[in-house]
This record gives sequence, C-alpha cells and structure tokens, in this order.
Amino acid sequence: MAGPLIIAIDGPAASGKGTLARRLAAHFGLRHLDTGLIYRAVGAAVLAGGLDLGDAAAAEAAARGLDLGGFDREALSRHEVGEAASRVAAMPGVRAALLEAQRAFGRTAPGAVLDGRDIGTVVFPEAAAKLFVTADVGERARRRTAEMAGRGLAADYDAILADLRRRDERDSTRASAPLKAAGDAAVLDTTALDADAAFAAALALVQQRLG
Ligand code: DC
Repeated sequence: MAGPLIIAIDGPAASGKGTLARRLAAHFGLRHLDTGLIYRAVGAAVLAGGLDLGDAAAAEAAARGLDLGGFDREALSRHEVGEAASRVAAMPGVRAALLEAQRAFGRTAPGAVLDGRDIGTVVFPEAAAKLFVTADVGERARRRTAEMAGRGLAADYDAILADLRRRDERDSTRASAPLKAAGDAAVLDTTALDADAAFAAALALVQQRLG
C-alpha cells in the first residue's frame, strides 16, 4: 500500500463515532486520534487560566502551546469542558493552530483513524475512507445519560438533550470548518443499532471504500 492509511470519522457529539474509531483502528492496526480531546484540552487550558472563553488570542495561544501527547481523558470529559471546546473550536485561529499536528499524527506510519467534526472535509480530504456517523438527537441524549449514570455521575436527560442540541447548532453553523458530511463520506445512522451492529456496519462501509 502506498503511504499511510487514513480513515476519517466525523459526526455530532455522542453519535458513537469515538467508539467506532477506536475499534476500527484496532481492527486495521492503525493509530487512533480523538480530535475532540484536542479542542477540549484548549478549552480546559483557557478555563484553568481563568481567561475569557470569548478571548480568541488567549485560546489561540493555548492551542499553540498544546502537547498532543498526555491528555487526561477523565478531566477532559467534563461537561463544561465540552462546552468550552465547542466555543474555542469556532475560532479560525485555534483551528489553524491545531491543523498541522493532526496531519502529522495521521501521516505517521502506518496511518490512523481520526475522529472529529472536520476530518473528512478539512484535515484529511484525501482520506482513503470517510464515515459520517450520526444518530437521532434523542437517542444520543439517552446514550450519554446512561453512560454518565454508569460512571456514577449525575445525569439529567432533559439537560443533556438541550446541551446536545445547542452544541450541534454551534458546531454546524460556525463559519470555520463546520460539522458536515464530506460529499464522498458514507453516512451511517446508528439510531437503531447497538454497539456491535454499528461496528459491523462501519467496518463493512470502510472495507467497501478501501476496495
Ligand atoms: O467530540 P467532542 O464532544 O469531544 O468535541 C468537543 C468539541 O470540539 C465539539 O463540540 C466541537 C469541537 N471539535 C471540532 O470542532 N472539530 C473536531 N475535529 C473535533 C471537535
């Protein structure tokens, strides 16, 4: 095969794209990058510095200083960090600062599965296979509520549903690299699928694309 293999997985929050990306990476022996963690780390750095989330210069400086290595997944999974990530992710300077690191990760042999919002459209438009993973917002809220409850965290379905709707709206309507399916992405709706069925469907679509 010529060059590193890139598989791009995009979709809204709680669509299951992260789990699918991890399992696809394991299946194909590729590295995996959850790019949402990068935006979360920038949002967390701005919050930790006591800075204003609307301060684009501060967010861009945090993005430039980011180390892609050691993310604390647990701390970054917090609700307010996701909200902060969605805010800083709308800033073109922040996105530009993070672009090359994502590309460098993917280009390192043997290649990678990257999941996010703009992998197939902006980061790797030339990816060998692209999936856009989606699910009904009510089902996504149900899954997120169950996941949080399973981790012993307080989880209110209505609040989570409202939050997902707000994040979908912000991520989809921003001017810079909005959440949308690439023209050549295979769309996978996981609303009626459990985790194993979703993985089987994703694998079949990727294998089809890889020929
Ligand atoms: O996937 P997530 O919930 O961890 O992502 C957090 C936020 O980061 C999300 O609301 C939008 C932003 N994001 C982005 O703009 N581009 C990406 N490639 C990944 C995430």
